[in-house]
This record gives sequence, C-alpha cells and structure tokens, in this order.
Amino acid sequence: MQYRSFQGTAIAEIGLGTWQLGSADWGVVNHEEAYAILKSYTDAGGNFIDTADVYGMGISEKVIGEFLKQNKTEVFVASKLGRRGDGNNGWPQNFDYDTMKRHVEDSLAHLDISQLFLEQLHCIPTDELRSGKVFDHLRKLQDQKLIKHWGVSVETTEEALICLDQEGVASLQIIFNLFRQHIADEIFAKAKEKGIALIVRVPLASGLLTGKFNEQTRFAAKDHRNFNAKGEAFNAGETFSGIDFNEGVRLSNEIKSLLPDDRMAQWALRWILDHPEVTTVIPGASKVSQVQSNVAASGLQSLSEEIHNNLRRLYDQQIKPIIRGHY
Ligand SMILES: NC(=O)c1ccc[n+]([C@@H]2O[C@H](COP(=O)([O-])OP(=O)(O)OC[C@H]3O[C@@H](n4cnc5c(N)ncnc54)[C@H](OP(=O)(O)O)[C@@H]3O)[C@@H](O)[C@H]2O)c1
Repeated sequence: MQYRSFQGTAIAEIGLGTWQLGSADWGVVNHEEAYAILKSYTDAGGNFIDTADVYGMGISEKVIGEFLKQNKTEVFVASKLGRRGDGNNGWPQNFDYDTMKRHVEDSLAHLDISQLFLEQLHCIPTDELRSGKVFDHLRKLQDQKLIKHWGVSVETTEEALICLDQEGVASLQIIFNLFRQHIADEIFAKAKEKGIALIVRVPLASGLLTGKFNEQTRFAAKDHRNFNAKGEAFNAGETFSGIDFNEGVRLSNEIKSLLPDDRMAQWALRWILDHPEVTTVIPGASKVSQVQSNVAASGLQSLSEEIHNNLRRLYDQQIKPIIRGHY
C-alpha cells in the first residue's frame, strides 16, 4: 500500500468506503462479513475508512467502532453528517450548531472514540454552503476538539468552489471516475494549490466499472441501484455515476478493451490514482475478495499516456454527452 499526505498525515491511497456495511441501500452485509471486510482492509495496510451517520442509521459506524476497539492498528475514520432525520433529510434543522454537535457526538459514541479524524458535510443543500454558517459551526466543533479536521462531500463544481474558499477546510469528497470526469478540469488545480485533500467516492460507478454486470443483471428492491437508477430518490450521480445502466454496460466493455488486461476494477482505480491531485480513493466493498482486489491497485504501475489519451477520447466522445445528475 502506498500512502499520500492528508494535511500531513500519511493515509492509504486506497481507502475503504463503508456505505455497504450499513446493510441498507445495497442489500445485506451481515456483521461477520462487515468485520472481515474491515480486517482484510487493515491487514493490507489500509488506514483510511469513510463512513456516515446515516449508513444503516449507525450500523456502519458501530461495526467500525467495534473493530477499532478489538484491533489496535491506527485507523483514520472519516464520517459525515447532515442527512439524518425523517422527511426531507432532516433539513434545514440539521444545520444549526446544537444539532450538528449532537450528530457529531452520536458518531463518536457509535465509533467509541473521543475525536473524529475527519467530519464531512454530507451533500447538503447548496444554499447552506453559500450562507457559510455551517463552516463556522465546524470550526467551533474543531476548537472543542470533537473533530480533528473537517471537509465537505459535494455534488457540483459550484459547491466544490464554494468549499475550496473556506478557511480551514481540509478535504473535499467528490465523484470522479472513468464515467464522470468533468469535475477534475475545474477543481483539481485549485485544490492542489490550496493544499486541500481530494477524496474520491463512487470510483467503480457502483460496480459498473468492474465489468461484471450485463443487461440481464437485476438488483434487489432495496438496493439503490434499483430504486435510484435514474436518480429517483437522490442525485443520479451517486448511482452508476449518473449513466444509464445499459449504456454503462456497453461503455464498460469498450473501456475494458482499452485496458492492459482483464483486471478492470483495479485499472479503474489505478486510473484515478494516476491523478496526483487525488489523496485517496474509497471503493466500497460487500465482500472480502473485493477489498483484496481493490487494495492491489496501489501496487500497479501507472497506465501509459497512450491509454490515458484513448480513455479520455472515449469519455469526450461517448460518455460526457450522456452523463446525468447535476454537476
Ligand atoms: N454522498 C456521499 O458522500 C457518498 C455517496 C456515495 C458513496 N459514498 C462513499 O463512497 C464509497 C464508495 O462509493 P460506492 O460504494 O457508492 O461505489 P463504488 O465504490 O463505485 O462501488 C462499490 C460496489 O462495487 C462493487 N465492487 C467493489 N469492488 C469490487 C471488485 N474488486 N470486484 C467486483 N466488484 C466490486 C461492489 O458491488 P456489489 O456489492 O454488487 O458486489 C461494491 O458494492 C461508499 O462506500 C461511501 O463510503 C459517499
């Protein structure tokens, strides 16, 4: 495993996304499997785990907390807040200081730790970012030492640019992969110039970029790849990166033909790591074998310039015009 600097802390360039460990929105990952996924990740040298208070309403955070207690390896946990609550994600009351503090304290209790390495706003309304009060609240939570760093998970370039201008922001979490490349052109250089870490989510386009799906693939009723395939429940970008599923299957076969060999998931991650502005990429996993495959991307050589150019051409010509979800 190779490591990159997150505000001076060496974190694994392959992190672990744990939406799946909430055992909701992806189907069931039972407690033993969840624990084994965490163990295989840290055994491979991984030390950066992304979770959120809403992943299974605390289930993901709790299994991570249990794991941390029983395994003494140093792990940097990033959580998120802002989407708890019934109805409209608990908005806007989630963004007053007292509620934010209570949500941080709940995450700390689930994780059984006294300080979060990183707390992130979880794709909250753009107007809340524009108003700026949430950033004051995060600075106050940092002053109180409840969180070491704070960052923002964003959906659009506009949101990213608002956040990059905030005093004290440590990181941005973005969707960036072979299907969804546009944000790079507008924010990578600025993030690098300002020393702000970039955390890349949905790197495998919810599994499409592993090449394992075909037109016959179906997902369970409670899997977001069923109920949000066209962005019916939340931003379309979070599911298949905003690409129509059948088009995504076809295009992933085209991408596969441009890669050095059939290790498609690993090359899709390698492609992201080949961008030096990226600090860590956080593939999610529902099986130990997936973690083992994903961490191996850190040991691959970079893709050649020729392959990068071919992939960019395919993106510009066939993918960019059809990608959905606001950005
Ligand atoms: N708004 C936000 O802030 C936000 C939104 C989305 C995600 N996230 C974070 O980002 C993380 C990553 O995104 P994601 O999980 O949505 O999407 P992803 O990483 O693109 O896709 C994960 C899925 O891909 C499949 N997969 C992973 N590795 C594989 C491998 N080596 N071989 C074959 N299949 C593999 C698995 O599908 P199967 O389970 O079907 O096998 C897995 O559940 C999340 O876990 C979460 O921590 C944050």
